[in-house]
Amino acid sequence: MNTPIAKTPDRLRIVSGLAPVHAASFAEDVRAGLCASRKRLPSKYFYDALGSALFDAITLLPEYYLTRAETEILREWGWEMVRSIGNPVDFVELGSGSAVKTRILIEEALRAQRRLRYSPIDISEEALRASAVGLVESYPPLEVVAYAGDYFSILQTNAIARPGRVLAMFMGSNIGNYEPRDGKELLMRVAAALKPGDGLLLGADLKKDPAVLHAAYSDPTGVTAAFNLNVLARINRELGGHFDLSGFAHIAEYDENAGCVRSYLEAKRAVSVPIDALDTVVRFASGERVHTESSYKYSEEDIARLAGETGYEFIRSWNDAQGQFSVNLMQRR
Ligand code: AVI
Repeated sequence: MNTPIAKTPDRLRIVSGLAPVHAASFAEDVRAGLCASRKRLPSKYFYDALGSALFDAITLLPEYYLTRAETEILREWGWEMVRSIGNPVDFVELGSGSAVKTRILIEEALRAQRRLRYSPIDISEEALRASAVGLVESYPPLEVVAYAGDYFSILQTNAIARPGRVLAMFMGSNIGNYEPRDGKELLMRVAAALKPGDGLLLGADLKKDPAVLHAAYSDPTGVTAAFNLNVLARINRELGGHFDLSGFAHIAEYDENAGCVRSYLEAKRAVSVPIDALDTVVRFASGERVHTESSYKYSEEDIARLAGETGYEFIRSWNDAQGQFSVNLMQRR
């Protein structure tokens, strides 16, 4: 006899406060970053409600091919990804956001097994709740145990340890926003939380023609510029900053040697900007830049090497028809 499927609320649990967030606050990071000799702001601060909406708009731009290419790969090859790791399986996803693309893999897994437990980890409890509610409503055989918090800390708590097979996911080229040393450290922490034979799916953007990358990160509509400038607007809103956004330009440059698109905000003229909550005034020389984001690109060899160096065996990768993006399966050794 089939076990009855539990009601929606019984299939959804949000666990928060599991791991204290040791990360510095927005105010501390803004002070440290803007008072440094080479000014910088961590890219994680792009994603307040407005910044997240602007990022969603970026994914619709014709120039920003990444999201479309990854979705194409999952639609075409998701069945093979799920089959390669074997069933039954539990899913764990780092930085799940709206989990739109994850639905493709959830549907594939549910073709091969009657139940599925999905554990997204995300810093934003609101985003987790919104996507988790939508998922349990859409898929009656799905159970969601979501973890709100920073994933370095959650991974350390053993929360995602499961007796059965696990497929972890880190999609959307999110790995690209980590400096290589930090990205390695994160993949090693994921490996430590997995068992031998468990899988990791890694969505990574591929190295390519600099002109294509430049267009993707400096679109003519100005959506990416608005996304970048929003971090200054956020300082105005939350910390009593007095930035005049029209005094700063969005710059994206591809460093081919490093395989990295670096984004900056450049002062168009010399300016002094008070930030009330920090009780400080930040001075910018004309042309001075604030580094706001790194978006690293990988070659297939880079990804295989990264897998080997962080505790995995590289199994295989899938590309979109134009060979712009890759989804890679690695197995914990
Ligand atoms: C979220 N992340 C993978 C995006 C990227 O491509 O680095 C953020 C982004 N920055 C500018 N455009 C999109």
